[in-house]
Amino acid sequence: MDVKSKILIIGGTGNIGKYLVEASAKAGHPTFALVRESKISDSKRAAIIESFKSLGVIFLHGDLHNHQQLVNAINQVEIVISAVGGDLVAHQVKIIAAIKEAGNIKRFLPSEFGVDVDRAHAVEPAASLSRTKVEIRRAIEAEGIPYTYLVSNGFAGYLIYILNNFGDSFSASLPRDKIVILCDGNPKVVFTKEEDIAAYTIKAVKR
Ligand SMILES: NC(=O)c1ccc[n+]([C@@H]2O[C@H](COP(=O)([O-])OP(=O)(O)OC[C@H]3O[C@@H](n4cnc5c(N)ncnc54)[C@H](OP(=O)(O)O)[C@@H]3O)[C@@H](O)[C@H]2O)c1
Repeated sequence: MDVKSKILIIGGTGNIGKYLVEASAKAGHPTFALVRESKISDSKRAAIIESFKSLGVIFLHGDLHNHQQLVNAINQVEIVISAVGGDLVAHQVKIIAAIKEAGNIKRFLPSEFGVDVDRAHAVEPAASLSRTKVEIRRAIEAEGIPYTYLVSNGFAGYLIYILNNFGDSFSASLPRDKIVILCDGNPKVVFTKEEDIAAYTIKAVKR
């Protein structure tokens, strides 16, 4: 019988996280979502929490900044996927420390979901985030934790969201007199549907 790995998703209510949780549960993996206790009853998250419940997702209360809660959650699974946002990427050293202490994790997928940061030549503000993701890669490798780095390029839905909101919340920070177009203006970009990124991520877990 095909026994599916138990997967913990940290950041499962986020932009890409919610697709990962759904893909994992639909692929038949016992799926655990680490959710901060204060957020689980937040009305803004009600729809997503209900949809997770309908998929049989198991909620574990925990905060990235609480070592013991992380260890307790990690102890219950074989695979850890982090989908924390850019502001928490550096804090994934806390997940690495908890994985080391738990000692049971077969694979860790840190929060990547963008370009291949070891090869990217980004400009700011992306360059700082890329550098931090590189540091997390090196920290995982130094600890000897089995890993997969998920390189997905741009989120298609996220781009549409940004374009739709350009006129509102982003307008204050947009340049008004001059726009710099990098390179010759013709480089190709690749965007991938979030559902496909999530399906591929879960396939990368293998079992
Ligand atoms: N390629 C692209 O186009 C693209 C676009 C955007 C992001 N990304 C990348 O995708 C990755 C995820 O970004 P995202 O935008 O999906 O993230 P996000 O929407 O900001 O989601 C962050 C998640 O982390 C959770 N979280 C926040 N603080 C926490 C804490 N202290 N303890 C535990 N969980 C906590 C949030 O929970 P709550 O819901 O409770 O706040 C949420 O589930 C990042 O690496 C980012 O660079 C790529």
